[in-house]
Amino acid sequence: MDANEFRRHGHELVDWIAEYLDGGVRGHAVRARVAPGEVRSQLPPEPPARGEPFSRVMADFERVLLPGVTHWQHPRFFAYFPANNSYPSVLGELLSAGLGVQGMLWETGPAATELEEVVMGWLRRMLGLPAEFQGVIQDTASTAALAALLCARERATHGRFNTEGAAAPQADRLVVYVSPETHSSIEKGARIAGFGRERVRKVPVGAAYALDPVALEATVAADLAAGLVPACCVGTCGTTGSTALDPLRAIGETCRRHGMWFHVDAALAGAAAILSEKRHILDGVELADSFVFNPHKWMFTNFDCSAFFVRDPDFLVKVLSINPEYLRTAHDGGVSNFRDWHVQLGRRFRALKLWFVIRTFGVEGIRARLREHLAWAQEFRSWVEADPDWELLAPVPLNLICFRWAPLSADPRALDALNERLLRAVNDGGQLYLSHTRLGGDYALRLCVGQTTQTRDDVAAAWRILGETARAIARPA
Ligand SMILES: Cc1ncc(COP(=O)(O)O)c(C=O)c1O
Repeated sequence: MDANEFRRHGHELVDWIAEYLDGGVRGHAVRARVAPGEVRSQLPPEPPARGEPFSRVMADFERVLLPGVTHWQHPRFFAYFPANNSYPSVLGELLSAGLGVQGMLWETGPAATELEEVVMGWLRRMLGLPAEFQGVIQDTASTAALAALLCARERATHGRFNTEGAAAPQADRLVVYVSPETHSSIEKGARIAGFGRERVRKVPVGAAYALDPVALEATVAADLAAGLVPACCVGTCGTTGSTALDPLRAIGETCRRHGMWFHVDAALAGAAAILSEKRHILDGVELADSFVFNPHKWMFTNFDCSAFFVRDPDFLVKVLSINPEYLRTAHDGGVSNFRDWHVQLGRRFRALKLWFVIRTFGVEGIRARLREHLAWAQEFRSWVEADPDWELLAPVPLNLICFRWAPLSADPRALDALNERLLRAVNDGGQLYLSHTRLGGDYALRLCVGQTTQTRDDVAAAWRILGETARAIARPA
């Protein structure tokens, strides 16, 4: 492909994306309807020996791949958590690809490094995080949590794990505290970091599915009495199951008392703290050692882009830096070399898309959209609460509603199966995509508001379609 062809196909592709995002996506079933293996079976196992015209590649994209795409940008995608994008974000990503910068060192990407420092400072101010927090963009919240766990491990072994490995003092006695509602990435990180699954304590939650700080204190005390070493506690602001808000201040105080690393996971909900009326969800974050939220979930910045902040960047760098000769430069010392701030070496110029998003939306533009999402979520909650055939299963502090169909005539023991059937029917229908969880043992439907091009009508349509589908299921055959 030469520059002229790139220009031509690039324009065509941008047109394609614009048409897709500007309503074309609505013409597709939200969740892909292909069977396992269906896409692969249409693609040749051997790579082409000779180059093919781009138009043929694009035609195959439309014919073979597009039917196998689940449309995460569909306004009626309500499953999991959003991974919303936006035009400026897509353009930032394109420019980053065009520049092809790999900003592992300041020297290999001065603009990438310094723009990242600036936009992370913007995010810190937007969320009202402590002034001493410094941030770095990671690919995902899972990777950020792993970095936090590695720091916790190093601190709890008096800075000796990196050198002595499992022989470091206390290394075989470290404990991590989470709740049963904490994201699975923490347990995975704890396994990778060598804490061991059995040393991940699931502290019980209270009525609203938030970690119980009294139970945390008791669990820590029992572990201390058994000769174990509390190393880390993860508090979640907006759990995956139900956006429960763990009591960060109380958890942070326990962490301080026992010298534990305190990591706050606000992967989805952190975005809401941009709103002054929701900032309280981060009350106590000033006690944290590390904090993560994902602009790639609910801040119009396409995947991946995870904002990780630490109180003591020097400690993070000490834990994660390694300095082979070939990576040494004349600037070491006076600048940030972000390769030392995360697990991998290489890194993309992700700050560019974030900069494009924040500048083109403006902070007020982002706030306005989040407020709409929050208001529509509350409306949906009120519809559920007002209908005797439906039941709300958790509080709705933000943009996620957990609920179930509970017709008065149904046997309560049949509700799980009934709701599973309803979810399958709704998702198979292609007009909506929702997901599920279990809360207090009950099967719960999850509807998360937060798509970039979503409207109130989409949320209302979801309620209508759920009702119609439920009535069709209930109707005698
Ligand atoms: C609370 C929470 N933490 C962490 C994650 C993992 O996010 P990521 O895909 O960025 O690793 C999720 C994903 O939904 C989440 O909900």
